[in-house]
Amino acid sequence: MYRALLLTVFLVGCGGEAPKTETKPAPAPAAPAPAPTPAPAPAAPAASGPYTPDPMAQAAYEKAKAAGADAKTNPKKGDAAAIAAGKAQYDAKCVACHGATGLGDGVAGSALPQKPSNFHWKERWDATTEGTKHWILLNGIQGTGMAPLGLTEDQAWEVMAYIDAEFAPK
Ligand code: HEC
Repeated sequence: MYRALLLTVFLVGCGGEAPKTETKPAPAPAAPAPAPTPAPAPAAPAASGPYTPDPMAQAAYEKAKAAGADAKTNPKKGDAAAIAAGKAQYDAKCVACHGATGLGDGVAGSALPQKPSNFHWKERWDATTEGTKHWILLNGIQGTGMAPLGLTEDQAWEVMAYIDAEFAPK
C-alpha cells in the first residue's frame, strides 16, 4: 500500500511536468517572387489603311446586298434616346469583343482568329452601308465570332446609332 502510494506520487511528479515549448523564431519571410513579366498586350486590330474584307465578311456583305440591305438607312441616327438605349445594348453584348471604346480590343475578341472590327477604322466603316451593318447585327458574319446577338430590328438600329455617335470616324 505504501509503495503503491509512493509510486503514484512519483508518477504524478514526473508526468506532470509540462514539456517546454521551444519558441523558435518565425522563419524569415520568403523573398518576394519576382513580378511576372506582363504578357504583351494583344495588338489592337487595324485602325487605318485600306480595307480588304476577309472571305467571311465578303460573303456577309453579298448576302446583305442580296437581301436589299443597301436601301435601308438608320431611322434612329442622332436620336438621343436611341443612342442611350444603344449604349446599354452595346455595353451588354458588344464590349467583350469590340471593346469599351470600339477599338476592337475587347478581352474576348483578342482570342478570336478573326479579330473584331475596330469601329474607328474609317476605310472599313465606310466600306459598307448602314443597311449592311444593320443586316450584320441581325445575321452575323458566318464563320467568325460575330454571331447574331438576338437584337430586334429596332435595337440593332439603336446600337448602330450609338456606334455612329461615339466611335465611327466622321
Ligand atoms: C464574340 C465576339 C463579338 C461580339 C460579342 C460582337 N462582335 Fe461584332 N464582330 C466580331 C468580329 C470577329 C467581327 C469581324 C468579322 C470579320 O471581319 O469577318 C465583327 C464585325 C462586326 C461588324 C462589321 C463591321 C464591318 O465593317 O464589316 C459590326 C458592325 C459589328 N461587329 C458590330 C457588333 C455589335 C453592335 C455587337 C453587339 C451587339 C457585336 N458586334 C458583338 C466579333 C464580335
